[in-house]
Amino acid sequence: MNLQAVLGFVFTVFLQNSLADDPTPQQWTPIVMWHGMGDSCCFSFSMGAIKNKLNASLPGVYVRSLQIGDSIVKDMENGYLLHPDKQITMACEIIKNDPQLANGYNAIGFSQGGQFLRGLVQRCPSPPIKNLISVGGQHQGVYGLPNCGTLSGTFCDELRKLLNHAAYVEWVQRTVVQATYWHDPLNETEYKQSSTFLADINNEKEINSTYVTNLQSLDNFVLVKFEGDTVVQPVETEWFGFYTPGQSQEIQTLENSDLYKDDRLGLKAMNESNKLKFLSTPGNHLKFQWDWFEENVVDPYLKNA
Ligand SMILES: *[C@@H]1O[C@H](CO)[C@@H](O)[C@H](O)[C@H]1NC(C)=O
Ligand SMILES: *[C@@H]1O[C@H](CO)[C@@H](O)[C@H](O)[C@H]1NC(C)=O
Ligand SMILES: *[C@@H]1O[C@H](CO)[C@@H](O)[C@H](O)[C@H]1NC(C)=O
Ligand SMILES: *[C@@H]1O[C@H](CO)[C@@H](O)[C@H](O)[C@H]1NC(C)=O
Repeated sequence: MNLQAVLGFVFTVFLQNSLADDPTPQQWTPIVMWHGMGDSCCFSFSMGAIKNKLNASLPGVYVRSLQIGDSIVKDMENGYLLHPDKQITMACEIIKNDPQLANGYNAIGFSQGGQFLRGLVQRCPSPPIKNLISVGGQHQGVYGLPNCGTLSGTFCDELRKLLNHAAYVEWVQRTVVQATYWHDPLNETEYKQSSTFLADINNEKEINSTYVTNLQSLDNFVLVKFEGDTVVQPVETEWFGFYTPGQSQEIQTLENSDLYKDDRLGLKAMNESNKLKFLSTPGNHLKFQWDWFEENVVDPYLKNA
């Protein structure tokens, strides 16, 4: 090989590497985010800050932070009062009508936004979702509401009382979002019959094979758990674990649950094809270091061009 050929070869390798490592902005897969309870699409201190961090890590990436309702106030209110089925239908419309998302996207759900985005994957598969990142999502529901997001004081106390005593009453299921993923381990039968959202997307009522197929179409389903979470009870729900049925102390991991053993949702098959990723980070609910997120989530899952 003469010098020119060698240089040409080196230069080509260099170019290919730099293209592979540093895609031009429009090459990043766009991102859809769904905020948690008490939050909204666009507060500068929450989703707005994350959006900026994502843009710093993936320069120019398109990020759509879902606003459910026609104003930020409505969006926040809907997080407590609009049934998740309706929220998912609205989110599906927003996504279908956004031309920037037409070729598919990655999705990041925060707290209850995690289970809502999973519902969206299962019900609204087009355009396709590549990687689903659930950050502190409650995939087996909650049993307790120690904290109500931005709502504190009397309203929160009343909400908690209502859920403790009447989560499965029909009008409460229709009116209060958190009731739809309330999971009473002391009465699994009642939960399966009366939960109008979580029991449905977890295929507890019947097996909807469309849900299984759509969930399987993900490249990865990444579940982030907060080791010091004092907001979500029990915290293992962030990894699809929950209380062992019949009591509320002992925890059952996903592997030991009927949901997994009967493979009602296809999670076993997903784990076997290495699509389920269990991550954990120290800290309380949604309190993570960006460096950790960048290394463990952005680099492996969001840098796909
Ligand atoms: C995203 O980052 C790019 C490149 O660093 C910058 O030009 C752009 O203004 C940023 N966009 C937003 C919305 O912050
Ligand atoms: C299963 O889910 C799909 C997608 O949401 C829905 O269209 C269909 O009606 C469901 N099937 C049953 C039997 O509930
Ligand atoms: C579970 O709830 C159902 C319906 O409310 C009730 O009839 C049943 O007695 C409860 N079972 C237990 C073990 O509490
Ligand atoms: C998933 O698969 C891994 C090995 O591939 C295994 O260690 C683990 O127990 C499986 N189940 C769950 C729920 O992670």
